[in-house]
Amino acid sequence: MIGQTLNATLIYQFINIDSAFKQGPRSLPGETYMPPKLNRLQHIALKVRDLEKSLSFYVDILGFRVIEHIDQIDPAKTDYGYTRKMRFISCTNEHHVVNLTEIGAEFIPPNQPPPKNSRTLMNYGLHHYAFLVDGKNEFNEWVEYLKSKNVEFVRGPLVHSPTHPEGDGSPGENRAMYFCDPDGNAIEICCDMMQLGDDDQVDPAWHAERIRQDGYSPEEVGLPPINR
Ligand SMILES: [Fe+2]
Repeated sequence: MIGQTLNATLIYQFINIDSAFKQGPRSLPGETYMPPKLNRLQHIALKVRDLEKSLSFYVDILGFRVIEHIDQIDPAKTDYGYTRKMRFISCTNEHHVVNLTEIGAEFIPPNQPPPKNSRTLMNYGLHHYAFLVDGKNEFNEWVEYLKSKNVEFVRGPLVHSPTHPEGDGSPGENRAMYFCDPDGNAIEICCDMMQLGDDDQVDPAWHAERIRQDGYSPEEVGLPPINR
């Protein structure tokens, strides 16, 4: 198994929860109360068609551990009624980071193969989800490891940045690679997600250090603008 494990932090890319709450809730005038802030995304639950296939991917390739299983769910006792099996799997010291719920074979409509890549589907729901690794070296190690396992990248590896010399022009500053699980759910592994200051702009000290670590001069690489 690869020496580097996926970082404890599961990144939810599309909503910066901290900054969303600093801007205040979108509510009626006078309604300003917000409960204590949400810390971070903690787990994702995925509906899968073949639990064994999914475990071969998440456990055997990505290095998750199966923490707990349920094998005899009575579909009549759930609010969705299509499953008998669940696996709670983790890459951290938390009980589960991913929850795999198998759709029983008897509930899968015939002639409906799973999608190849959730990022390309024009429907509601998951686009992709992401795991963080410590830095560029760990990121590159995962690139080589996944290649050795014949995991196909559906995008990247690349750098999401409008100013980084290797950047693709998109926001985030993170290095990213994208691939899919057996049900077509797109997964990202990333590092170097942009760190923000109190003003919700890029933290200049973080940016300078990141650019330096990538072998470039911070004086020659502009701060990435943030389009609000
Ligand atoms: Fe992402």
